Amino acid sequence: MNIRCESPQDYLAIAEVNTLAFGQDNEAKLIAKIRCSDRYIPELSVVAEIDNFVVGHILFSYIDLVGQETLKVLGLAPLAIHPQFQNQGIGSALVKAGLAIAETKKAPLVIVLGHPHFYSRFGFQSSSVYEIESPFPVPEDVFMVKLLKSYQERYKGKVVYPSAFNEV
Ligand SMILES: CC(C)(COP(=O)(O)OP(=O)(O)OC[C@H]1O[C@@H](n2cnc3c(N)ncnc32)[C@H](O)[C@@H]1OP(=O)(O)O)[C@@H](O)C(=O)NCCC(=O)NCCS
Repeated sequence: MNIRCESPQDYLAIAEVNTLAFGQDNEAKLIAKIRCSDRYIPELSVVAEIDNFVVGHILFSYIDLVGQETLKVLGLAPLAIHPQFQNQGIGSALVKAGLAIAETKKAPLVIVLGHPHFYSRFGFQSSSVYEIESPFPVPEDVFMVKLLKSYQERYKGKVVYPSAFNEV
């Protein structure tokens, strides 16, 4: 398996993997919208490929943490593995690779809305522990944060997603 940043030649394959993994095309549309926005970070759209075939994709993009100041943080979404390649460690490898790149971008933290069973192994914790609030009414344990090296204690508040996320 090879993990690398996306290139425009991957756009179609990435859309297909997301549509197959989620059983709908909302996430593929979200990715396309983010790519066209100032929230897109090309190095943080990462694919996993096997024999030159894209089997997984992860995207981190800028979202806001609004407290005393508005801070640009990272949102992890979406993460998708082709159904025939799930439960083989590919999703975990993409999360780890993405977090390592995120550190190089000097981002203070990453937010994810997802399965605690899956994300807790990478150090994600309920965001409420750090007084970081979800914009949606979701169970506390599914809205999670992973602190990165440049995190400071004063970074708290409410997360605000760009409008691209409205239809997911
Ligand atoms: C969720 C997903 C990204 C995990 O990637 P993966 O490559 O299959 O996962 P890995 O092989 O790295 O890790 C397997 C672990 O993830 C867990 N896992 C897989 N899918 C899960 C799910 N939907 N909910 C909770 N845990 C899940 C497995 O139970 C397994 O846990 P274990 O190690 O304790 O047995 C992938 O299954 C997927 O694309 N699912 C459909 C899309 C989706 O739900 N994405 C949501 C991301 S928030």
